[in-house]
Amino acid sequence: MRKPMVVANWKMHGTLAEARVLAAQVRDGLRRTRGVEVVLCPPFTALAAVADALAGSAIGLGAQNCHWEASGAFTGEVSAAMLVELGCRLVVLGHSERRQHLGEADHQVNLKVRAALHHGLVPLLCVGESAHERSQGLTFTTVEGQLRAGLGGVSPDAIGRCIVAYEPIWAIGTGVNATPAQASEVHGYLRGLLSELASKEVAQTVRILYGGSVKPENAAELLREPEIDGALVGGASLQAATFVGIVKKAAVRGANPKE
Ligand code: PGA
Repeated sequence: MRKPMVVANWKMHGTLAEARVLAAQVRDGLRRTRGVEVVLCPPFTALAAVADALAGSAIGLGAQNCHWEASGAFTGEVSAAMLVELGCRLVVLGHSERRQHLGEADHQVNLKVRAALHHGLVPLLCVGESAHERSQGLTFTTVEGQLRAGLGGVSPDAIGRCIVAYEPIWAIGTGVNATPAQASEVHGYLRGLLSELASKEVAQTVRILYGGSVKPENAAELLREPEIDGALVGGASLQAATFVGIVKKAAVRGANPKE
């Protein structure tokens, strides 16, 4: 059974002081919550402070990006090895904001996925179509291309150590989430591809998260879908109360896996 997972993507938000407070509030708010894996991904600058705030709790630390080389002349970049040193266990890769605004291409995402795996980080590979692609009937083509490219050259075994996030671009930060049926359809398609790229057994173990305007109000109906294994949360992760609310919905799903 896949354990539900909720990942907070703080994006470029949070001074050190704000990050410390938010991480501590989330930690305290989830002290008694079981059955769900939680990871906070603050900006690079706040990783060490959030690691301190989370010490001794079950909440994991993650980053929002990494470079594929371990070190070198790559001004402004941070390597997977550096993230591991800070205590990260996961890294978000191929987020649509990086693809759109920073020109990140599939082959770079693939190098990052492989570097993350090499250094023992869990890659959280993001895929998702734009509104235009959806309107043209290209949703499956788009996510298939991103998934195949992102996982190119990754062994079936290593695919089993990855997590996938389906994040339709039109749902990110817009307040308009994909319906449970829309998300579920794409998740099922992605799982089918994972079966082909790895094996049916491996594909059954890979968690596929949904991201895009997840809020406490829509989390339960999304997470009720058997194909939706958790959430990647942006805006609603910046307030402890709303993020904790979402995690608690996922914990209910974790406690009732057959529902
Ligand atoms: P959102 O962002 O929850 O603010 O829509 C999700 C994401 O970009 O990961």
